[in-house]
This record gives sequence, structure tokens and C-alpha cells, in this order.
Amino acid sequence: MPDMAGKVVLVTGGARGQGAEEVRRLAGRGAHAIAGDVRAADAAELAGSVEGPGSASAIALDVAAEDSWRQAAEEIRARFGRLDGLVNNAGVAAAGTVSGTSFETWRDVMRVNLDGVFLGLKHCCPLIADSGGGAVANIGSGVALVGYHTAAYAASKWGVRSLTRSAALEFAHRGVRVNAVHPGLVETPMTTSNPAQFDAMVQATPWGRAADVGEIAEVVLFLLSDAAGFITGADIPVDGGFASGGLAKRIAESTGALTSPPG
Ligand SMILES: NC(=O)c1ccc[n+]([C@@H]2O[C@H](COP(=O)([O-])OP(=O)(O)OC[C@H]3O[C@@H](n4cnc5c(N)ncnc54)[C@H](O)[C@@H]3O)[C@@H](O)[C@H]2O)c1
Repeated sequence: MPDMAGKVVLVTGGARGQGAEEVRRLAGRGAHAIAGDVRAADAAELAGSVEGPGSASAIALDVAAEDSWRQAAEEIRARFGRLDGLVNNAGVAAAGTVSGTSFETWRDVMRVNLDGVFLGLKHCCPLIADSGGGAVANIGSGVALVGYHTAAYAASKWGVRSLTRSAALEFAHRGVRVNAVHPGLVETPMTTSNPAQFDAMVQATPWGRAADVGEIAEVVLFLLSDAAGFITGADIPVDGGFASGGLAKRIAESTGALTSPPG
């Protein structure tokens, strides 16, 4: 288990779902976790409920707004004097295809999922570098590792892969590692709100179930920790085999290939 003692880490979208679990586990390993979210009241409630040995606080943050990032970075610098890690986790989903997505929805998704990651890297990597180095985990998606029908959501997550590499290259000499974690289906409010889609994704997951938020959080904490000191610019799938074998699972099941006796 990575020791995060003494580190200050900002988790965007930290009020619920995966981000909330990352906040809880960071505090549980000795870090100070800052939950940044547009759901400021939920983030504050979560921060007040975490168990140590570390601690947590909340900050009102709209990742799509540059002024909000400026304020957050200034507040963190003034209050803690440092930042050791960033989890660019805030995200929104949209189901439409290319022809089924309005330009307004496209922009809404891009603003949060891609502008938000760009602005987080822009405003936090220099602060992490000034703190002596650290790490960023960008939360992409398994749909950024395959072709997928959701035009805006998939494009935004493919963009996260590219930004991860750009920032990893730029900040390597300043001691900031930048990696992308690509969850497959995770049981959170984002996915449980659409049971039909949830069940279809389970069917396309070789492991046969959704991930628990803790299974994503553990990989994120590892990447933020000193144990991952030589990993940067990487795409890490945490997806129960979705990207590598989700399609083959469906084909094999329909032909009976996975249930045939050996020989
Ligand atoms: N749940 C899944 O199956 C799954 C799979 C792959 C990737 N992801 C990605 O994981 C990340 C976390 O998703 P989740 O499943 O926990 O979803 P969630 O909807 O439970 O949580 C998302 C959080 O982001 C916050 N948020 C949204 N817009 C914001 C903004 N403009 N500024 C700040 N915060 C904002 C929300 O308030 C919420 O707290 C997202 O980037 C999502 O795209 C999720």
C-alpha cells in the first residue's frame, strides 16, 4: 500500500464517485486530500467525514473555468505552500453519436473533460514542480483505448491521452510525472443511472462485472506515490479486460468458443 504521508493532493470531481474514494483513501494513507468540485457542499461534507491519519478539505472548483483554477491554485499555494499531486478526475458523460450530438452538448463535454484537464495541468504542474516534484493522474476511460460510438465523450477521453503525453514530456525535467488511468465500467452515479447501458457494459467486460471505486483509486494512489517513480506518459487500463478483449468476448460468446471443451 503506497504511503502518502505528508503529501498534499488535489482531486477534481472529488465530491462523489471515484473522486470521493480517492479523497478517502489519500487521507487514510496520511495525505491531505483536497476535494475540488462544483458540488461544493457535498465536497465539504465528504472532507469533514474522512478518517485519518491524514485529513481532507474542500474547495469550490469548476474545472471548465480558468478563473476557478487560478483561484484554486492561489488558495492551495497560500494555505499549504505546496502541491504534490493532482488527480484530474472530474468528468461528465454524454451518450450521443456524431449525428446524434448537438454542438452544445459537444462543447459541454469538451469544456469539462478536456478543457478541465488542460487547465488543471496548466495551473497545477508548475506548482507541483515548485514543490520539489510530484505526480498527476488524468482519468481517461477505456473508451479512449478502442473505437466507441459516443462522439463527444470518446473524443474528449482520447484527447486526455494526448495531453497526458504532452505534459509528461514538458514536465519530466522538473520532476512531475503525468500518467493516464483508463477505467472500464465503474459502479458510480455516472453509470448506475442508466441500467441498460450498465448491463451492456458488463456483457462487454471479460471480467464479468463493474469495478468497485476502490479498484480505480488504488491504481491512482500508486501512480501518485514514490513507488511509481519511473512511470510517466503512460496509459494504464483498469478495465477488467474491456479494451483488450471486450469485443472478442462478445464474438466468442456468440460462437460458443469460450464454453467449448478444450481439444
Ligand atoms: N464510472 C465509469 O464507469 C467511468 C468509466 C471510465 C471513466 N470514467 C471517468 O471517471 C471520472 C469520474 O467519474 P465517476 O464515475 O466518479 O462520475 P460521477 O458522476 O460519480 O462523479 C463525477 C464528479 O465530477 C464532478 N464534476 C462534474 N463537472 C465538474 C466541473 N465542471 N468541475 C468540477 N467538478 C465537476 C461532479 O460534480 C462529480 O462529483 C470521470 O472523468 C469519468 O469520465 C468513469
